[in-house]
Amino acid sequence: PPELLIAFGLGYLLGAIPFGLLLTHLAGLGDVRQIGSGNIGATNVLRTGHRGLAAATLLLDAAKGAAAVLIANYCFGQTAAAIAGLGALLGHIFPVWLKFKGGKGVATFLGVLSAMAWEVAAIFAIVWLAVAAVTRISSLSAMVATVAVPIGAWVLGYNQVAAVSVLMAAIILIKHRGNIRRLLAGEEPKIGAKA
Ligand code: G3P
Repeated sequence: PPELLIAFGLGYLLGAIPFGLLLTHLAGLGDVRQIGSGNIGATNVLRTGHRGLAAATLLLDAAKGAAAVLIANYCFGQTAAAIAGLGALLGHIFPVWLKFKGGKGVATFLGVLSAMAWEVAAIFAIVWLAVAAVTRISSLSAMVATVAVPIGAWVLGYNQVAAVSVLMAAIILIKHRGNIRRLLAGEEPKIGAKA
């Protein structure tokens, strides 16, 4: 159906706006892909030492995911909203403007979830914060929280969210394979450690 295609395209285009790259560039910090993990997400922006920019990256990368879901839901309903959310995640991770080399999708996932089912987003946030409080490692916190999402959604009876988030979680985990390698080697830096 054309509305699902439109929803996906809208989500993709919103998701493909690389806020971390744009903000650090506008702040005159050069290319964030040249520092730390090389990622364009908030965690790596924080390695520039600019907390405000990292917070703005987190917020905007989440907001574009939420916006995609809310707009599609308003125009076409729930199924289109889920498709738009998936589009936003794929746009963030595989943006055409960056030769399909984008971010890892964590903030955008959170934004998508917050617009689809805020209780599920809360599960993500609580698990992320709990793991981060103990380990101080962003990627590990993100991966554990990401895995908790489809399980939590299913337990709470959000079956559509559970289904689409399984797919999203799989993509996010695959994008973290470099982090997994570093974690296993004991080389993953703690949150806020400068690059
Ligand atoms: O949210 C991204 C985070 O999970 C990993 O970021 O820069 O440490 O690879 P980074």
